[in-house]
Amino acid sequence: MNISATDLRLSEEQLAAFHRDGFLHLPALTTPEEVASLRTVYDQLFARGSAAFADGDHLELGKVDESGQETLPQILNPEKYAPELVDIQARVNALAVARQLLGDEAMPAGDHAISKPPAHGAPTPWHQDEAYWSPAYDHTAISVWMPLQEATMQNGCMQFVPGSHRSGVVPHELVDPDAHALQVADPITDDVERVAVPLPAGGCTIHHCRTLHYAGANTSDGTRRAYIMGFLIPATPRDRPHHYPWQRPEWGN
Ligand code: NI
Repeated sequence: MNISATDLRLSEEQLAAFHRDGFLHLPALTTPEEVASLRTVYDQLFARGSAAFADGDHLELGKVDESGQETLPQILNPEKYAPELVDIQARVNALAVARQLLGDEAMPAGDHAISKPPAHGAPTPWHQDEAYWSPAYDHTAISVWMPLQEATMQNGCMQFVPGSHRSGVVPHELVDPDAHALQVADPITDDVERVAVPLPAGGCTIHHCRTLHYAGANTSDGTRRAYIMGFLIPATPRDRPHHYPWQRPEWGN
């Protein structure tokens, strides 16, 4: 069975839900066959270790734990190291969805892969993606987050604060002085509505770059693999830049 881009025509309800809530999910972005082959490529990439990657393309988002194991390893631009990732149907389909949400000028903005090791994979803290980006621009972008196995509450599925994309970027801070991950400076309190989105393998969530999101720790006995594809329309320069003092200088913003 194939899933073509034309199969992923969003309904009026889905488009309205994305603009209202700042996120959406689809039960199948690609086929089980492609998910199985992506899983193999993905595991081979993470098995190579950080030395196999250019500076900045293999980052520890969390902390290395007491036993020396990474808790939230990320690979940026994985398609540079595994060219078989360039032509995947999942990206063709994700781009088709991005154009329905952002307009025809939407284009790929790069992929990344975040692995959550079994039993000790750290939570991805609450954050807005735009908090990582250049404060000199206003950004319009989405991330398509596709798990390569089922994503559950136990292994760290995505969670969102509905409507949070409609306000600006809130203050963030580094989770740890040595880490490359940001978290919101003011914790999300229990009275704030949040929606967890479990998914089958090869499904996806889609979120706006200002939507507050989080993924829990991996307490299951299997790796939680997420493959994330970004899409954007060209950013608009601001007359007065935002002030994002939490950013690290080596991010080059
Ligand atoms: Ni994010």
